[in-house]
Amino acid sequence: MNTPDQVRILGISGSLRQASFSTAILRSLARRAAPSMLIDVLTLEEIPFYNEDLDCPPGPSGVAKLKRSVAESDGVLIATPEYNHGMPGVLKNALDWASRPAFQSCLKNKPVAIISSSLAFTGGVRAQYQLRETLIAMQAHLVTGPEIVIGGVHTKFADTDYHDETGWSFLMQSLERLRAEILIRRALTV
Ligand SMILES: Cc1cc2nc3c(=O)[nH]c(=O)nc-3n(C[C@H](O)[C@H](O)[C@H](O)COP(=O)(O)O)c2cc1C
Repeated sequence: MNTPDQVRILGISGSLRQASFSTAILRSLARRAAPSMLIDVLTLEEIPFYNEDLDCPPGPSGVAKLKRSVAESDGVLIATPEYNHGMPGVLKNALDWASRPAFQSCLKNKPVAIISSSLAFTGGVRAQYQLRETLIAMQAHLVTGPEIVIGGVHTKFADTDYHDETGWSFLMQSLERLRAEILIRRALTV
């Protein structure tokens, strides 16, 4: 049953790994944030390499699904690891697809929050800043607040559940900022 303050968030994981911490963080958040925030988690296995020759209607089905999922969401939450001081290629590739048509991206004006994580204490912060730049290029609406950078991520899980209480408080603050931004926009468009 939908309530007026309920928001739909698309969680996009930057990792394809089966046991990915990034995906597990999104799934843990989806469990904890319901029912005020409904988080659907999308992984990027079905997105082919970007090729401008293929970027015309109807386009690859995985890309259509990505764009539809973004368009139908009220906001997006991206959880990503860091690969070689940047965001993983699969995530950049998906964002390149999502960025087209130029200046009409499904992410344009969409509220987006970011989580980065890593086994290292740096928590993927370099990937996070690279990701911000890419989102700015497609005119997404970055929702900033507490920067969610999870270092030593492997020590913060019990089985598949994130269990760091301090971390939870930051994660929930960030999610609440995203939700607040969505509700402000909703009020302005009524
Ligand atoms: C190709 C590759 C490059 C990596 N580079 C970095 C890095 O630059 N900085 C870092 O903190 N961790 C790095 N890592 C470690 C990942 O952040 C770590 O494996 C993380 O848990 C992967 O995310 P996932 O659990 O969501 O799959 C790298 C891992 C791989 C596979």
